[in-house]
Amino acid sequence: MNILGIETSCDETSAAIVQDGTHLLAQVTASQIDLHARFGGVVPEVASRQHVVDITRVVEQVFRDANMTWSNIDAIAVTCGPGLLGSLLVGVSAAKGYALATGKPLVGVHHIAGHVAAAMLTLDGGTGATPPFLCLVVSGGHTELLSVDAKFRFTRLGGTRDDAAGEAYDKVARLLGLAYPGGPKVDDLAHRGRPDAFAFPRALLEDDSFDFSFSGLKSAVNNEIVKRKNRGQAVLVEDVCASFQAAVVEVLVEKTKRAAVHTGARTIVVAGGVAANRGLREAMSQLAKELSISAMFPPIELCTDNAAMIAAAAYPRAKQGRWSPLSLNAYAQLPL
Ligand code: KG4
Ligand code: ZN
Repeated sequence: MNILGIETSCDETSAAIVQDGTHLLAQVTASQIDLHARFGGVVPEVASRQHVVDITRVVEQVFRDANMTWSNIDAIAVTCGPGLLGSLLVGVSAAKGYALATGKPLVGVHHIAGHVAAAMLTLDGGTGATPPFLCLVVSGGHTELLSVDAKFRFTRLGGTRDDAAGEAYDKVARLLGLAYPGGPKVDDLAHRGRPDAFAFPRALLEDDSFDFSFSGLKSAVNNEIVKRKNRGQAVLVEDVCASFQAAVVEVLVEKTKRAAVHTGARTIVVAGGVAANRGLREAMSQLAKELSISAMFPPIELCTDNAAMIAAAAYPRAKQGRWSPLSLNAYAQLPL
């Protein structure tokens, strides 16, 4: 079964064709990073307008790259939430238009289900993750610990009570004067600094909680920077990044460990933009070793937003013929 996926929930206009939920045949993504960088973050109105400019050419290009036509497509999958409403509406409207014009069935996909499904995709014929597994989703908008069953259904164990992990990365990057999106830059600098230079707080919350909180950490980093500047001391950017990353990773690993023990999971999957972080990948692999279970990650290029993950997430539903109606809407907030 070949599914055309469309993703426009934030600042990437992406289309992909995925075979049987696991094999990526082609993907085209128009990134808006340069467009938003000068504002220090995504400007929703600018994002939706650019999606309108890009969507048709991105879809047409993915057909050319896959050397396919509509006759090769069995279903159309599209992110219907959560995300920026204007951005989501462009993808949903395009998908509905294509579905109406071609008679192909439609599947509305939850963006987080997409991030989880990214770990089930392979780029080189290898094997991706197969549910059931425990999944930590860490992106710019979300930090969620999910138990995923064999039928790709989710039970939410916990999530952030304030900032998402990626949001904390981006905010700290901004405090340090690094360009948007700051996560990858903080990751690079962290590898050149001392993780024990500053004792930033680790919010572990109650003993039995699978929730997260990163706003205190962000404030602690801010206070340290302000204190040093007021004293005329240099801010050692590499050390701040390394110490911040150590605090984030320690909390993410500790909560995942608790959840793995609690659920008896045999596999831990880490997904979302922050799953591209090298420090987090290393620490999660170490945790899996300690628990004698396996740790799996999506291919790096499928960690951040993309349409392949949306097509992959739609596959279990498409196999059962559980289609969305043409009245499908876009939702800025959408429960899993
Ligand atoms: O999943 P994603 O593309 O968008 C959302 O759905 O939010 O994630 C983007 C987030 C940004 O906050 C970005 O800074 C962060 O992922 N990110 C990273 C790394 N690469 C991307 N954070 C830490 N280390 C990285 N290497
Ligand atoms: Zn995302």
